[in-house]
Amino acid sequence: MSPLLGTLQVPGDKSISHRALIFSAFSRGRSRIYNCSPAADVRSTGECLSKLGLEIEADRDAHGSAPVIVIESRGIDELRAPSGELFAGNSGTTMRLLSGLVAGRSFSTRFDGDDSLRRRTMKRIFDPLVEMGASVRARDSAYAPFEINGSALRGRSFQLQVASAQVEACLLLAGLQAEGETSVTAPYTVRDHTSRMFSHIGIPFSADNGTLAVRRLQEPVPPFELVVPGDISSAAFFMVAAACRPGSNLLLQNVGMNPGRTLIVDVLKEMGADLEIVEPREQCCEPIADIRVKYSGPLHGITLGKERVASGIDELPVLALAGALGKGELRVSGAEELRHKESDRIKALCDNLKLAGVAVDELPDGFIIRGGSAVEGGSPWQSHGDHRLAMTGAIASALFEKPVAIDDLDCAAVSYPGFYDDLARLLRS
Ligand code: S3P
Repeated sequence: MSPLLGTLQVPGDKSISHRALIFSAFSRGRSRIYNCSPAADVRSTGECLSKLGLEIEADRDAHGSAPVIVIESRGIDELRAPSGELFAGNSGTTMRLLSGLVAGRSFSTRFDGDDSLRRRTMKRIFDPLVEMGASVRARDSAYAPFEINGSALRGRSFQLQVASAQVEACLLLAGLQAEGETSVTAPYTVRDHTSRMFSHIGIPFSADNGTLAVRRLQEPVPPFELVVPGDISSAAFFMVAAACRPGSNLLLQNVGMNPGRTLIVDVLKEMGADLEIVEPREQCCEPIADIRVKYSGPLHGITLGKERVASGIDELPVLALAGALGKGELRVSGAEELRHKESDRIKALCDNLKLAGVAVDELPDGFIIRGGSAVEGGSPWQSHGDHRLAMTGAIASALFEKPVAIDDLDCAAVSYPGFYDDLARLLRS
C-alpha cells in the first residue's frame, strides 16, 4: 500500500466559479476570472450565459501561463431572450441561480437538464419566484423542463425551510432586479460565497444575524478581476485519503476555507486526523489556506447532527470512508438533503459500503457506520452517474484491501476532470 505524498493544487472552486460568471451580468465591461473551475457544470453555466448575450472567451494571464476566462457584459438590462433553451446539464447550481437571474427580465426562458437534474425538485425556487411576481410553467409543477416568464418583481422576505445556498443566491439575484427589499434567512450556516462576492465586486447588500438583504441595483457595477480558490470539496477526497492511508504526507495548496464549507476539516480533526492549516489568508474576500495532512493512526467515529451538516453536505460521502476505516461509530443525521443531490447519495453510499463489507445502517436522514480496522472491498461500486460517488469510489479503491469496480468513471468530469490523474500522481510520488 503506497501512501499519498507530495503537493497538490486542486482546480478552482465550482460554487465560486458559477457565481463569478453569473454575477458578471450585473457589470458593464470585461471581467477576468483567474483559476476558473474546468468542471463540466461550470461550462454549462458559461454556455447558458452566452445564450443570454454575454461574451466569454479563454485567455492567458500576463505571464502567458495560467488560463483566464474573460467575460464581457453590457449590464443586466441588456440580457437578451435566449434562442432555444438553457441546458444546465447535470448542474443544479446553474439551473437555480440562472432562474433567479432571468426571473426579472421581460422575456421567457426555457430550462432543461440531464436525467439526474430532471429528477431534482425546483419547487424550492419556483414558489418564492412566483411570490415575487414571475410566472413559471413546469413539468408536474416542480421539475425541468420548465419555463420562466420574467416580469417586474416585488421584493419579499423569505425564511428558507431548507439550508440551501443555491436557493438563497437565486432569490438574491432576483432581488437585485425587484422593487423594494428582498431578504433571505437560511436556517443554518450555508456557504456565504454570494455575499462575499457581492462585497468583492461592489454589489450593495446588508447582512444581519443570518439574514441577507438586497435592493434593485441602480447602476451596473464596474467589471472585476477575481481569483478563484481551490475547491475544498475536491480537496476533501485527498484529505480523507491521506488521513486514512499509513505513511501519507500531503500538502494541499490554495484551498478555499469559506466558513460554510469547512466541516470536512473540522470533523477530520475531531476524528483525530493530523490536519494543519498553513498560512490562512484572504483572497478576493474569501478565506484560503494551505492544508497539510499527515497520517497519524486510525481515526475514531463522531456524531454529526442537523446544525452542522449543511456546511459539509457535499463531503459526507467521502467522509463516510473515514468512518468505515476508523474505530467506533460515525453517526450522521439531519442530512436528508443528501437524498436530493445528483443521486440519492444516502442510499447509493450505504449500498456500496455494504457490498464492500462495511457495517452500515441507512437512516432516513443519514447513516451509522461501524468502523473496523480494514475493509475488504473487491466489490462493485455504483456511481449512479454522480461525480461525487464516482470519486468516493476511487478513494475507496485506494483505501480498501481490494479495489472496487466503479461503473462510470467519466462522470467525475462534472466537477473535477483531472481527478484520477491527480490521485495516481500522489500515490506514485
Ligand atoms: C451549492 C450549494 C449546495 C451544494 C452544491 C453547490 C452552491 O447546494 O450542494 O453542490 O454553489 O450554492 P444547496 O445549497 O442546495 O445545498
